[in-house]
Amino acid sequence: MKVEDIRYALSYGDVLLVPMKSSIDSRKKVDVSTRLTKGIKLNLPLVSANMDTVTEANMAIAMATLGGIGIIHRFMDIESEANEVRKVKRAQSYIIDKPYCIRPDETVEEARYEMAKRGVMSLLVVDKSFKLLGILTDRDIRFVKDDKTKVSKAMTPRARLIVGTPGMNDEEALKILDKHRLEKLPLVDRNNVVRGLITSKDIYKMIHSENSAKDRRGRLLVGAAIGVKGDYMERAAKLAEAETDLLVLDIAHGHSASVINALKNIKKVISDVPIIAGNVATKEGTEDLIAAGADGVKVGIGPGAACITRTVTGAGMPQLTAVIECHEASKAHGIEIIADGGIKASGDITKALAAGACSVMIGSIFAGTDESPGYFTIRDGVKHKSYRGMASFGANVSRKRIDKREVDPQEIFDIVPEGVESSVVYKGSMKEVVNQLIGGLRSGMSYCGAANLEELRKNAKFVRLTNSGLSESYEKLS
Ligand code: XMP
Repeated sequence: MKVEDIRYALSYGDVLLVPMKSSIDSRKKVDVSTRLTKGIKLNLPLVSANMDTVTEANMAIAMATLGGIGIIHRFMDIESEANEVRKVKRAQSYIIDKPYCIRPDETVEEARYEMAKRGVMSLLVVDKSFKLLGILTDRDIRFVKDDKTKVSKAMTPRARLIVGTPGMNDEEALKILDKHRLEKLPLVDRNNVVRGLITSKDIYKMIHSENSAKDRRGRLLVGAAIGVKGDYMERAAKLAEAETDLLVLDIAHGHSASVINALKNIKKVISDVPIIAGNVATKEGTEDLIAAGADGVKVGIGPGAACITRTVTGAGMPQLTAVIECHEASKAHGIEIIADGGIKASGDITKALAAGACSVMIGSIFAGTDESPGYFTIRDGVKHKSYRGMASFGANVSRKRIDKREVDPQEIFDIVPEGVESSVVYKGSMKEVVNQLIGGLRSGMSYCGAANLEELRKNAKFVRLTNSGLSESYEKLS
């Protein structure tokens, strides 16, 4: 090896976008919609990371409602992950095709358990042939002291229910809900068999969410992560069955034979769900994943806030160079890339998209919001939420527990973490956080004279920073 052969590589912080003539008079007119894969369109170029302190159903619902998408993490058993996907798919379609039901002879205790497990506030009470017998809401059982009380005793019976018909549209449903001040409208056919459920909350959400990222049936988009070992085929099949819109086949070093084999194996049996594979950071990695059938490629080795891969292994690639090179390789195939990790502020999003990414995946910024699954802590008197790398010591141990294997102390000793366990400052709701990020992105695009992301990629010019440029840019009053 010669010193001259060592290439130069850049991170977001090493560059700035050159301001250009702009004819955009309002940043509201800037179009930030994008494509994740050939068939998946987003209204915002944001993806929440498949990490256990970032994305479960609540986060994915918030992301898709705002116009992006969340990827449910895989550090839970298969059924739980599929259930998180189902929660998202049911969250905003105004008709729930298969409402959760319970039998009249079950107990209130069972009903409480079902409601908590499914994350719903009501259950339809049905007989063996799914004929409607009543409805049980959380209000019906809130003050029931005896857990063994039968559902039939606590429910509102069929005779007192107003119902709708399966073919009913949103306007008709809204009229009935409004007239009778109802929260739930079960849909039954001529034989009184349950065919669906409409809730006033879902209709309200639908009316107020034109920007949401939705599937063809008006349900929120969601993705779900899988790995390459053990039960990954079964996991992929169950997630597809739960109607995930995409699978993210994601391991730390994605340019590997195991990812390529797994990708090929899944593609053989699941052809109708797109798969985004990663993580890679080079042209060759991108080419190989696309050749193995990837519908999208996730880019980023070591830029993440909780990553210590570069320190522990010595390997990695500064993220701006990784994005530019991977995009070079992917564009010939019409495949999009996601820039994953290292987004510290909205300006980094503009840079990543200008460098060729179709979207950015974010962990640490989103971990501090109300919708993330992490827990609250107070550090130095300031409210924080937990955030940990998925290759951290704790995450490694949790994974072994989820596999329900006997964990040998030697296995624990052998863990070499490539991530840290920490916390981030609490930031409020996703709506506020995303509003700031997208506001910054729109403004950044107008500085580049770009009315949409395609123009941004085409027009953008970067300049490299010197040390003085760096301090001039980032050392500010606080
Ligand atoms: P940010 O910077 O948004 O990055 O917090 C999120 C991304 O970080 C990656 N990730 C890890 N990388 N060790 C790593 O080297 C880890 O333990 C780890 N956990 C997450 C991942 O790509 C995520 O989307």
